[in-house]
Amino acid sequence: MCGIVGYIAKPENSGEASREYFALDVVLEGLRRLEYRGYDSAGVAVYADGAIDWRKKAGKVAKLEEEIAQRPLADSVLGIGHTRWATHGGPSDINSHPHVVAGGKLAVVHNGIIENFAELKTELTELGYNFVSETDTEVAATALAHAFEQERDLTRAMRKVCQRFEGAFTLLGIHADQPDRIVAARRDSPLVIGLGEGENFLGSDVSGFIDYTKQAVEMGNDQVVTITADDIAITDYEGNPAEGKSFHIEWDAAAAKKDGFGSFMEKEIHDQPAAVRDTLFGRFDEQGRLTLDEVHIEESLLKSVDKIIVIACGTAAYAGHVARYAIEHWCRIPTEVELAHEFRYRDPIVTPRTLVVALSQSGETMDTLMAVRHAREQGAKVIAICNTQGSSIPREADAALYTHAGPEIAVASTKAFLAQITATYLLGLYLAQLRGNMFTDEVQMVISELRQMPEKIEAVIDNKAQVAELAKSMQDATSVLFLGRHVGFPVALEGALKLKEIAYLHAEGFAAGELKHGPIALVEEGQPVFVIVPSPRGRDSLHSKVVSNIQEVRARGAITLVIAEEGDTAVEDYANHVIRIPQAPTLMQPLLATVPLQIFACVMAETKGYDVDQPRNLAKSVTVE
Ligand code: G6P
Repeated sequence: MCGIVGYIAKPENSGEASREYFALDVVLEGLRRLEYRGYDSAGVAVYADGAIDWRKKAGKVAKLEEEIAQRPLADSVLGIGHTRWATHGGPSDINSHPHVVAGGKLAVVHNGIIENFAELKTELTELGYNFVSETDTEVAATALAHAFEQERDLTRAMRKVCQRFEGAFTLLGIHADQPDRIVAARRDSPLVIGLGEGENFLGSDVSGFIDYTKQAVEMGNDQVVTITADDIAITDYEGNPAEGKSFHIEWDAAAAKKDGFGSFMEKEIHDQPAAVRDTLFGRFDEQGRLTLDEVHIEESLLKSVDKIIVIACGTAAYAGHVARYAIEHWCRIPTEVELAHEFRYRDPIVTPRTLVVALSQSGETMDTLMAVRHAREQGAKVIAICNTQGSSIPREADAALYTHAGPEIAVASTKAFLAQITATYLLGLYLAQLRGNMFTDEVQMVISELRQMPEKIEAVIDNKAQVAELAKSMQDATSVLFLGRHVGFPVALEGALKLKEIAYLHAEGFAAGELKHGPIALVEEGQPVFVIVPSPRGRDSLHSKVVSNIQEVRARGAITLVIAEEGDTAVEDYANHVIRIPQAPTLMQPLLATVPLQIFACVMAETKGYDVDQPRNLAKSVTVE
């Protein structure tokens, strides 16, 4: 939530010298790239000609750009920017960031919540300070200005105020009396540093500066960084020097562009074959054995694991539900999946033999981060499966396994979901291999199935016209139901979530077996019901049970949209529409069956005229609890 950017360069690096851009260009580009983090208002501040100047506007970054076009800002080599998801104070021009105080000398942007802002506001009011907005950020900025008066140094002032602030926050400040620097601080809220030559960057994540550098530095929690044009200095809040962790950014700047697609979501749906392929890439040795070099947890500990708990939120939690079926089947380790925000507060039974798997695309979801900490405090080992380098969850986990889906910009998650399933499957197979639950050739058979998936996903995407037509024909539906069994159940939940998120349509996913215990009462004439049908070649009677469920809803007037394998003729008599997916073993099916549901939601939202990538009220990276 909230995107933050900072940029500083040497004067000769700008304009007509070696570079063709100024701070404003860099900051605005960063804001466009980080807009998915929050988009109810945006603002920038730059330092030029001895003073700070700023523009801020309720609405999207485009609105801010219009404002700047009308009232241009001077060329500058120092700037900060912000795109907001409102917490304290509604989205308005005045509540937007930057908050500029100290007679226009100090500008601050902020992500997070300063929980003790009321107490600080009272103290500062007593000292004679006035406030114009409803935000905790203005209080933080004023506290910083007050500390600057005493310290006469922005870095020392930042350290001082951060010791007083409670809550989670990232803060960036620039001061007209010290225009050679940006000072930033973080606690439980994201911030990464980008390294350039004669220029440096700050961003909520690497997308904020991905166009300009591939070198980045992670900083720890409760730290302050001062960046100048050619240096970065990190300390803790007491001023003790700290080391950042350098890394090379693997994402490609071009991957964060729409590439001719109508929306990022549409593009990211098309990215899925590559997301799965890249997540599999490089994880095997010459004999084809799974290696997972990143998992630096002692093998003896992994062998002694007696319980796995997957913690996650939103779409990532549904990926966890899919993973549970595979991990329990392959490893015979009891596996629970828990929403991170519930896990923490229910006093879960966690021991040193518990392996916690934290799933998060952003690596920044606050609920998941807090759950990771809680699990580690209880002695569990934590493996993070994340997509974003430099983020908090992998940093705080014992080991990290990255999905290689590339930047996911659309708020509604698509390619991250498939990449998360792929990565959890790799982890499950690795554990099964290590613990001897599966023979090497069994593991390799599953891996070869996984390797066929990108091509099969491609085939599902190729069929998008049929799904698009269905979505258009159902745009007046007021509710859509989704049914699935086994791994089809979390796929049903994910299909419903996509529709809620972007098409603002009532949608529910159910375990098909639960139908008769309640949900069937919702079915009336014309009710669209998606049914995810397992492979008829699978074990047990899963397939026939689901076919019976189709009959049951159809008999009550539902319009059935059936996702079934090529060649599965048994569904034809009861389906109003059959959406075909390639044949695949049951556990692989989520990687295919989810895709038509994503396309359906995307087209439905577009048809209704909604902003597919930036749905109302949502933010991609939820960095507050
Ligand atoms: C938000 C997003 C969802 C996402 C969830 C978890 O709610 O809108 O799309 O699934 O957070 O995000 P994470 O980054 O932890 O996977």
